Amino acid sequence: AALLAAGLAASYAAGSIPTAYLAGKAKGVDLRKHGSGNLGATNAWRVLGWRVGLAVYAVDTLKGFLPVFLLPRPVAHAELAAIAYGVAAIVGHVRPVFLGFQKGGKGVATAGGVFLALAPLPFVIALGVFLGVFLATGYVSAGSLSAAVALPFALFVYVGRPSPTVILALLVALFVFWTHRANIGRLRRGEESRFRIGRRATS
Ligand code: G3P
Repeated sequence: AALLAAGLAASYAAGSIPTAYLAGKAKGVDLRKHGSGNLGATNAWRVLGWRVGLAVYAVDTLKGFLPVFLLPRPVAHAELAAIAYGVAAIVGHVRPVFLGFQKGGKGVATAGGVFLALAPLPFVIALGVFLGVFLATGYVSAGSLSAAVALPFALFVYVGRPSPTVILALLVALFVFWTHRANIGRLRRGEESRFRIGRRATS
């Protein structure tokens, strides 16, 4: 139990590192006040350019990947412990202790890192769905939502039974829809900000 508690605390702390906030601060910008106001890779890309966006994406992925991949798990409950570490990292990203539990990101990159560690092939399929929908529509949020839906299906086909990881993917999909509720409203009204290849975000 002590092992699990220490792992959970470490995962939550790792997830809490506010990458987008720090990247913005380094450039003299509070990303919470620009673009979508979200502390994620997408908004870092939108406001600060693709290099910063990709860097934030990579670090936010590692915040989910490393705790699940590296932290020791109680042998009797290895899968459940890995899931618990993943959930702790995602919660940290969305409600970071280092920002007083206030608004962090929407959890997509960090959840991606968690599934990269738990089930790499289904993750790659979901990443493909993300890229396909994003490139076809220009909406990152539509890509994120599509990938969130695709992942539990890909996982279920891959695992062959409704394992705890499959159930985690279903719950994460619901959670991602919740963190994207403002995006969903904007998509429905045709007001979501759109990326065009080779240009910064337009409305
Ligand atoms: O993962 C976040 C992305 O789907 C949307 O980000 O900044 O457009 O709300 P944003």
